[in-house]
Amino acid sequence: MAQTGNFKSPARMTSLGQGAELPASGAVPAGKPRDEGLKGVDFERRGFLHKIVGGVGAIVAVSSLYPVVKYIIPPVKKIKIVNFLVVGPASDVPDGTGKIYRFNEDKVIVVNHGGNLTAVSAICTHLGCLVHWDEAADELACPCHGAKYQQTGEIISGPQPLPLKQYNAKIEDGKIVVSIA
Ligand code: FES
Repeated sequence: MAQTGNFKSPARMTSLGQGAELPASGAVPAGKPRDEGLKGVDFERRGFLHKIVGGVGAIVAVSSLYPVVKYIIPPVKKIKIVNFLVVGPASDVPDGTGKIYRFNEDKVIVVNHGGNLTAVSAICTHLGCLVHWDEAADELACPCHGAKYQQTGEIISGPQPLPLKQYNAKIEDGKIVVSIA
């Protein structure tokens, strides 16, 4: 059913006995000026919202940057330093061969040359390439710039400034044991 009449008209409000008394002019009475009553409240609310937005922004920024930073700066692995290490079975390094193992923070090449077992750092002292055992030439050779070392690490020729660091190597109970010299 369609409604008729003006429900907000002063006459209607008066007839229902509800609502505030209206002045004869029909003008709505003014409330408390906003400037006086709500100015402080608005300011506090704005400050609070700024803090919330800032906090959320900071959380988003940190959570976005964290994986990037972790990727760029990989975690530092702490290596336990030991005086000796069983690196593998004796069969790892048959006569005439060499094999590289990790030992503490170094890489060590164990060479078996006619039963004479030696271990020296495998990191070339020139620019850090890994050397290999050249059985035919009876020397350790660096593939990068031609450095040559004796089986015990002394310099034969090449651009390297220093000999290779020496370690001890022996067979014990069928296993290769490398230790600090
Ligand atoms: S890194 Fe070995 S010779 Fe240059």
